[in-house]
Amino acid sequence: MNAAVRAVVRKAIHEGAEVYGVKRGYAGLIEGDFIKLDRGSVSDIISRGGTFLRSARCDEFRTQAGREKAAKKLKEKGIKGLVVIGGDGSFMGAKLLSEETEINTIGVPGTIDNDIACTDDSIGYDTAVNTIIDAIGKIRDTASSHERAFVIEAMGRRAGFLTLASGLAGGAESILIPEIKCDIDEVCQKVQEDYELGKIHSIIVVAEGVEAIGSEFKTNRSQDESNAFILGKEINKRTGFETRVSILGHMQRGGSPTARDRLLASRLGAGAVDYLLAGETNKMVGLIHDNVEIASIAKAVESDKEINMDIYELANILN
Ligand code: F6P
Repeated sequence: MNAAVRAVVRKAIHEGAEVYGVKRGYAGLIEGDFIKLDRGSVSDIISRGGTFLRSARCDEFRTQAGREKAAKKLKEKGIKGLVVIGGDGSFMGAKLLSEETEINTIGVPGTIDNDIACTDDSIGYDTAVNTIIDAIGKIRDTASSHERAFVIEAMGRRAGFLTLASGLAGGAESILIPEIKCDIDEVCQKVQEDYELGKIHSIIVVAEGVEAIGSEFKTNRSQDESNAFILGKEINKRTGFETRVSILGHMQRGGSPTARDRLLASRLGAGAVDYLLAGETNKMVGLIHDNVEIASIAKAVESDKEINMDIYELANILN
């Protein structure tokens, strides 16, 4: 996100606009927690993960009264346009703000889940995939030395993009994602067959939102009831293979961004400024076939981004 903030600030100043940063997302917007930003304010942040403006979840912004308060604060400062960087929830807020008030909004997709439609990738996704494949590689060292099965849980809320990409790129033996009903018998059978073929380890990458048949997987669970643990116990019980579970957790959301993410954030941040200055509102910018393109936020929040089944099938062939 820092790389996107940097691009918004510097591109807007380049175009002659004045720029303010909003601290703590919509919570800061409602409180009028703004800071004036110049080129120097965003120096040395392109290599840092997260956002120096900080972020927050904000229930009040879900109400019309909350959004009106925010619009009033922006108006008092003479601010006419807002660039919103975030996922589904942030986009919904940007949509309503532009429909209910005179504030123009442009969304920039930023979520490791990569589940926003109308863009090939969201900011943060590539860095998270790289973090996960690094973790898979390190875990594999123990898996092979100790001849164990490992269940590795990746984030992604209800989406499997992170798990699928890192499972394929990390060479996992099985990939379980929410978009495809998975059968625990098949997973156990694969562990067994691979073992009989001479494999000395098995890596199963599972998305946190996965559902499975043939086990007690829960769909509504708290963090300490991870499905990965249920799966790990089941594999051990059914195959006798010593099994360990690794929940990667919030390490997936941090770290210095990859070159690909920095490039994406810079292009989308600058693109958002161009569209805002051209008078666009209630839109998002996305990268489609390497071009910065615009789409309505409504389309982005109402459509489900679909998993690429070719990638899923390829992973099953290669792994
Ligand atoms: O949406 C991004 C995400 O990292 C999900 O992948 C994950 O389920 C969730 O946020 C975690 O949220 P929190 O940091 O509030 O626990």
